[in-house]
Amino acid sequence: MCGIVAYVGSKPVAPLLIEGLKRLEYRGYDSAGLASIADGRVKVARSVGRVSVLESLIGDSESFTGTLGIAHTRWATHGPPTEPNAHPHCGRTRCGHTVSIVCNGIIENYTTLKKYLADHGHEFQSDTDTEVLVALIAELYDGNLEGAVQQALREVTGAYAIAVICDAEPHTLVCARKGSPLIIGIADKSFIVASDAAAIISHTTQVITLDDYQVTKLCAGPTDKLTSQGGPWSADFKTTTLDNIQVNSTVSQLDYDLEKIELGGYPHFMLKEIMEQPEAIRNCLRGRLEKHQSRVVMGGLSKCARDIVRAKRFVLTAQGTAYLAAQIGEYLLQDLARVPARCEYASEFRYRNPIIEEDSVVVAVSQSGETADTLAALCEAKERGALALGIVNAVGSSIARETDAGIYLHVGPEIGVASTKAFVGQVLVLALLSLYIGKRKYLSDEVVESYLAEIDQLSHYAERTLEQSDHIRHCVESYVDRDNWLFLGRGYNYPVAMEGALKLKEISYIHAEGMPAAEMKHGPIALIDDGMPVVFVAPQGSQYDKVISNIEQVRARGGRIIAVATEGDDRIGQYADSVFYIPVMPEALQPVISVLPLQLLAYHAAVLRGQDVDKPRNLAKSVTVE
Ligand code: G6P
Repeated sequence: MCGIVAYVGSKPVAPLLIEGLKRLEYRGYDSAGLASIADGRVKVARSVGRVSVLESLIGDSESFTGTLGIAHTRWATHGPPTEPNAHPHCGRTRCGHTVSIVCNGIIENYTTLKKYLADHGHEFQSDTDTEVLVALIAELYDGNLEGAVQQALREVTGAYAIAVICDAEPHTLVCARKGSPLIIGIADKSFIVASDAAAIISHTTQVITLDDYQVTKLCAGPTDKLTSQGGPWSADFKTTTLDNIQVNSTVSQLDYDLEKIELGGYPHFMLKEIMEQPEAIRNCLRGRLEKHQSRVVMGGLSKCARDIVRAKRFVLTAQGTAYLAAQIGEYLLQDLARVPARCEYASEFRYRNPIIEEDSVVVAVSQSGETADTLAALCEAKERGALALGIVNAVGSSIARETDAGIYLHVGPEIGVASTKAFVGQVLVLALLSLYIGKRKYLSDEVVESYLAEIDQLSHYAERTLEQSDHIRHCVESYVDRDNWLFLGRGYNYPVAMEGALKLKEISYIHAEGMPAAEMKHGPIALIDDGMPVVFVAPQGSQYDKVISNIEQVRARGGRIIAVATEGDDRIGQYADSVFYIPVMPEALQPVISVLPLQLLAYHAAVLRGQDVDKPRNLAKSVTVE
């Protein structure tokens, strides 16, 4: 999704902004651009494709030598990914100055504003809503950029994060946000602004996080140009509301480890993130298991614990991989906590006039905490009286801030577009939540204790399972030229099969479908022909024999069977062409581990097919539009 980086300070701005954009590349984008002010004029460069294309376009150009600038990676929403639609966009003020902007989000009333501005003589070069916003700021500009931004944003509906510069104010950067993330880093007499901490962390760990409807004016430049204070260089900032009332911003410490977002010897972030899952599991569990007291500790739920335990029903809502984790959550809550639960796509839930009965808890599940549909569904449910919980990875994200209480995943930043360790963290946290409730309602200490003992082993189980990576790659080589795959499972392993299919199609572009194993014979069985790869998630459990019958149905029609099975299962070898093993564990915990071979399968298939694993085509890491 779109990314913003902006800087005002004393260093040459172009290399700094390019480095920042590269750190945001993982978010997904289709074009990029940069604007800076040098010699009192705004200079803009934009290109379609990778940040490296923009970098070569700029080259050593003398035009970008300034120390104030804004930059952007775009993921097309209004208009196709073309150079004119790429950011920054510019507007001309009545007194002949140029204002330039980068924007994330969507200006919902842009058609009305565009008509108004066209009637006032503005001409538009792009199809974007952002160009309309910058034209409005320029129209309102009367020598005070901060004031023009405040005034313009009072007219805007939608969600946005923006950074704006004007050639009449060559030491001033103005930024604002509503519903889209923006962080301001305070470095040595300079400021670096970004939509994501990854672009800030190499410069500073001191940050201000803007709240909705806040505008910050950042100034840095030669003291004689800014203030009357001593010293050759000054930097200052001020935050206001849209009505120009000054607010105090709190400076906080960014808890982010740059090492963690770098590759650390792996060829791809996706493989790194798959392989670091044992550690991710340990981090997610840290401080949460009190085995000797058979207790789950959930600090983030304490203020709502009574309401959560007494809740009459749970609605889990999410998108993408998080939705499939939430589906497992539905099974876990019903099975372990014995409370009615249902899982819904956030995009459907929010628009179907949902009934929220008394004592309902809505749980938003999200890696980024910024997915627009999930955030909107959560807000909708809250408005209708539900208690809002979040199961989120990104600390301080929009969803985390909207919830009444929540549980962070603590699995570390996820960079690869295809979600892996966040899924495992989400399922694990949902298992903990179910035990937390179950224990307070009817689960005996012995049962909870035995689950906690198994949960404590999960990181070792993950290590053992991941050791099969080479074996999995070797097996995948024989199927990788096949263009249609099926993924089947039952019970807890049905959403895992869905996730296996999603992973494969996301990064290898192989068509794959996941479904309940029994559903296959109601239609999809017609697809099975000689050599079609069919993946069965078939660890031992209550439905094992039924899965074996489904396997036989596929084999009889020439399908090639790839099975995820339990260590020590001697039967599965008679039916399957390839087997990946997971350790023995209770059914309710299997999804945390049974998904791992499927992640590796998708990864190796994509690499063997020569695809760009970490930046799959058309996909974005964090989808902040509907
Ligand atoms: C995008 C990503 C998926 C992710 C989904 C939900 O589609 O490509 O990997 O599962 O968004 O994201 P969230 O951040 O809410 O978990």
